[in-house]
Amino acid sequence: MRNNKVSANPKKVAGERAAELVDDGMIVGLGTGSTAYYAIQKLGGRVREGLLIRGIPTSEQSRIQAEREGIPLIDFAETIRIDLTIDGADEIDPAFNLIKGGGGALFREKLVATASHREIIVADESKLKDRLGGFPLPVEVVPFGWQYVRLNLEALGCRARLRVSENGAFVTDNGNHILDCAFGAIDDPADLERRIGAICGVVESGLFVGLAHQVVIGKADGTLEERSRPQCGVDVRRKT
Ligand code: 5RP
Repeated sequence: MRNNKVSANPKKVAGERAAELVDDGMIVGLGTGSTAYYAIQKLGGRVREGLLIRGIPTSEQSRIQAEREGIPLIDFAETIRIDLTIDGADEIDPAFNLIKGGGGALFREKLVATASHREIIVADESKLKDRLGGFPLPVEVVPFGWQYVRLNLEALGCRARLRVSENGAFVTDNGNHILDCAFGAIDDPADLERRIGAICGVVESGLFVGLAHQVVIGKADGTLEERSRPQCGVDVRRKT
């Protein structure tokens, strides 16, 4: 018997749908990762068809892709207004709190998210969790004295590992390191974000609390689920 089920790439489905939500004249935050990749690719296509936008990339990787796609960029220093940002996530809880930073771009992603009028998270279903913490929390730290910073992070109840690449310690776009902190289930993301942020030497954590307004979930059967955080406007739960 032939199996007629068509299998879609859920990340592509989500990324491309979010790119359709961008309008002429917008300043758009361009996220990082394999799902945001499809949003940037689709936006590139729309720009070539006449869409007028300017992008602010959240990483060098996204900047290179956006330039290749011909998306005009604007320096963050030139604006205080970002209309809409499309970015991925490593985990999403029911309150739209996130763990981000699997790709190491969490600091720029968070700065751009805090400046964004609307933050749209694109992901596949595997990123939806009842509670955050299965994915070790990335924390960006300054290289000077990172071992001491690690001790202070571990005092909060995690096992922290220095992220490495083939050339040794992973270095972020900002010249820092990443400590991946295995906390296990995180009961109070806002409290943990505050406590991590209070440690000297921490640049930023990958906990995004209250920053996401909308999530677009792509599924393997090619359908989508879009949800808006209720307090951010109408709850537009929609299935297509
Ligand atoms: C990069 C990120 C990414 O958005 C996150 O890791 C999700 O990536 P992907 O879409 O490849 O699963 O936070 O720092």
